Amino acid sequence: MHFKVTPSTLRDARVTVPGDKSISHRSLMLGSIAEGRTEVGGFLAGEDCLATAKAMSALGVSVEQPAPTELIINGVGLDGLQAPAADLDLGNSGTAMRLMAGLLSGQAFGSVLTGDASLTGRPMGRIVTPLTQMGAAIESDCDGTPPLQISGGLQLHGIHYEMPVASAQVKSAVLLAGLYAGGTTSVSEPAVTRDHTERMLRSMGAAVSASSGTISMEGRQVLRGRQLEVPADLSSATFIILGTLLSQASDILIESVGVNPTRTGVIDILQAMGADITLENPQLLGEEPVADIRVRASELVGGTVDPALVSLAIDEFPALFVAAAAAKGKTTFSGIGELRVKESDRIATMAEGLRRLGIEVDETDDGAVVHGGRFSGGEVDSGHDHRVAMSFALAATIADDEVIIRDIDNVDTSFPGFCECVGGIGAQIEVIHD
Ligand code: S3P
Repeated sequence: MHFKVTPSTLRDARVTVPGDKSISHRSLMLGSIAEGRTEVGGFLAGEDCLATAKAMSALGVSVEQPAPTELIINGVGLDGLQAPAADLDLGNSGTAMRLMAGLLSGQAFGSVLTGDASLTGRPMGRIVTPLTQMGAAIESDCDGTPPLQISGGLQLHGIHYEMPVASAQVKSAVLLAGLYAGGTTSVSEPAVTRDHTERMLRSMGAAVSASSGTISMEGRQVLRGRQLEVPADLSSATFIILGTLLSQASDILIESVGVNPTRTGVIDILQAMGADITLENPQLLGEEPVADIRVRASELVGGTVDPALVSLAIDEFPALFVAAAAAKGKTTFSGIGELRVKESDRIATMAEGLRRLGIEVDETDDGAVVHGGRFSGGEVDSGHDHRVAMSFALAATIADDEVIIRDIDNVDTSFPGFCECVGGIGAQIEVIHD
């Protein structure tokens, strides 16, 4: 499928976006190994999280979905998962693969984790290394990519792990394995990463400490099922923020979005570029902070993006590249080498697409310099990457002519209803089946 977007004017509106992907995955995994029922509202019924739901069902957990955004997970307790009858297919989801590897490393049974063409090309050595140090046995392809074959029946032991890359997926995989390990498991992160796992573990009764960049917990802690409301995903809200900033005069309010401080780097980076973004009505939704985000059309100016904010905005760089392309002057990104191992090589895919729309981009190993300009019409390819596709869709609303965005099937992994949402605020966007 492809998107056809014609230049359009966004109107003033109140918008809601779907639930947070990271928190939805974690609700399924932790709810499954908790004692008792976990009832989830605001669940993201996107393909990635549905792959996790299917995997948990294959592991013997009863997961009901009475409505698209509601789940009832009948927790089986720490030792209640059962051997799956077949390989677990985690689709496009790196989060599902890496966190499930942690969860499954300490089980009595073996399992095999696989995924689509993009996921089976992504590096897994980063989780295999610490999990192996904990006593797990995991085979991957010779280049460290999935499928992962995880042995069962091994007793794990706690370790202290200094993560070489700032990754919430690695941290979470180690902590989930740590639940099944003897003794203390601790992880130090080189930069702060999203802390949804720690917050949810605590909310289910586990003691997890965090101090000076080190997170630690004892193994074999019992989790208790609970009511859990998932906030709207700031990563999805980012596309609405982007479109509004780029527009002529829109004023848009995005309701009750997760604004956990480990996720809000995108707001800080855009504000430093001159964006008019304010947080209204801040409150707590369970253990997660939320707020309404008000955005108004703004004249953006380029600059140097603070590398200290990278891990707090890690999924938002496709949108930030578009913001930089629409800004006055040049914007320098550095320290974003991790983008090369996301759903696509996001530095390369964004640079290529922006060039096709007439924007000058100089690429470096771990960054890029984007020279502000005007988007021409044209054709770009998302590289099978949902966030790249959505970023270009909003860029196209202010292009000089029609833009075709190829390869958009994966948009449903994180933002089901994207077209209806941005179409509803005035974007002229059509999905065309090739
Ligand atoms: C995620 C962590 C990030 C992010 C991904 C979701 C998570 O990945 O890019 O979309 O839910 O833990 P890394 O941990 O690899 O940076």
